[in-house]
Amino acid sequence: MRRGASILAAAALAVIASALSAAPKARGTGAGVYTEAQAGEGARVYAVRCAMCHGPGLAGTVETPGLVGKFMANWAGRPLGDLYDYLGRAMPQPSPGSLTAEDNARLVAFLLKANGVAAGTTALPADSAALRRLVLEPVRPR
Ligand code: HEC
Repeated sequence: MRRGASILAAAALAVIASALSAAPKARGTGAGVYTEAQAGEGARVYAVRCAMCHGPGLAGTVETPGLVGKFMANWAGRPLGDLYDYLGRAMPQPSPGSLTAEDNARLVAFLLKANGVAAGTTALPADSAALRRLVLEPVRPR
């Protein structure tokens, strides 16, 4: 009995270990993870759905946080999936969750661009699990 259980446990561990090593490694956003076109589409969504609170230049207002500067300190080192999920769950106020997955990915691209992260040749996926493998790398303020 005992022995059977420990063999099972060992087998389960081996399955977990192989799943982990097969999982794609996390990448940083410095590699160029969104496109200029995607960020441009995000800018159009931002202008209509976000700018009235966060400001046309993303500087924020007295009641609303800016989305540049301190924003980077808040989100750097975390997976983009966190930001993407947050937008889907909490923004835009007062009707959170009203945007499509594609628009939320466009907004993440726009926020990366606004915070100095360089564009690349592949667009961000509108997929939380995939975005979880991309980690926001801080960019030094210019
Ligand atoms: C009606 C005003 C309003 C609108 C519209 C709005 N927000 Fe917000 N947003 C807020 C407030 C207020 C906060 C502060 C957190 C809170 O109160 O939930 C916030 C927080 C945030 C944060 C977190 C900032 C940080 O540094 O942690 C992000 C990112 C964000 N909003 C993005 C957006 C985006 C993108 C849109 C457009 C789709 C949007 N917001 C629309 C009011 C708004």
